[in-house]
Amino acid sequence: MDIRVVGVSGSPRHANTDIMVKEALAAAAEVPGTTTEFVSLANKKISGCVNCRGCVRKGYCVVQDDWQECVRPLIDPVPDGVILGAAVYFFNINSQARAFMERCTSLLKGLFFSEAVQKPPDWSRTVGAGIAVGFDRHGGQEHTISSIIHWFLINNFVCVGGSHIGYIGAPGWLMGENNRDSILRDTELGLKACRIIGRRVAETAALLKAGYEALKGTSRESKRGSNVPEESK
Ligand SMILES: Cc1cc2nc3c(=O)[nH]c(=O)nc-3n(C[C@H](O)[C@H](O)[C@H](O)COP(=O)(O)O)c2cc1C
Repeated sequence: MDIRVVGVSGSPRHANTDIMVKEALAAAAEVPGTTTEFVSLANKKISGCVNCRGCVRKGYCVVQDDWQECVRPLIDPVPDGVILGAAVYFFNINSQARAFMERCTSLLKGLFFSEAVQKPPDWSRTVGAGIAVGFDRHGGQEHTISSIIHWFLINNFVCVGGSHIGYIGAPGWLMGENNRDSILRDTELGLKACRIIGRRVAETAALLKAGYEALKGTSRESKRGSNVPEESK
């Protein structure tokens, strides 16, 4: 069974968030049949949503920047798993990652406005998990991962959390250093949690896929797109 997991690093630079997301992807890739893809938002020009409602009128986000290129792996085709990592800025998600998430509202307008022409992506069979890295051990990782998990839930993903410490995702900290690769020292908490959630994403995605296959043709079959209102299909 083929499983495709996409990892997105939301940091504006190539550093610790990249390392954590790649660690999670490496663990996902150990699950037989899994391929992975890495997307970095570093050095990308991504504006926040400006609420122009251009997407309602035209069916796509009219703000032209690097968001279109970065979101492509999440929608064309829809993957089986997504791991979203962010840096902690002021106790919350960094603005580059937040802007990326905000702009995805343009994909969903078919859910809210009957005049919107776009068909929302069906992420109801896609597993999501969150990663956050901060300078401090308790710097806001929990808040940041909560933002990510809420975004997944709003978008209809199936979320997994959990780690060896029983947590909502993978929290990393820089252990008193401030280098681009300081997270490599956080082996027992941060990197280990990345491996656990990476594996869980791939395994849960395989279970979902196998489950849908097993129910196909039965009265309990769940049709892809059943989350989407009739008028936007
Ligand atoms: C503007 C800014 C705000 C930050 N705020 C926090 C914070 O509230 N808590 C924290 O633990 N670390 C904070 N940090 C530190 C970053 O989370 C840390 O440098 C992390 O490694 C960034 O991820 P990256 O290495 O992938 O870029 C902040 C850094 C910046 C630049």
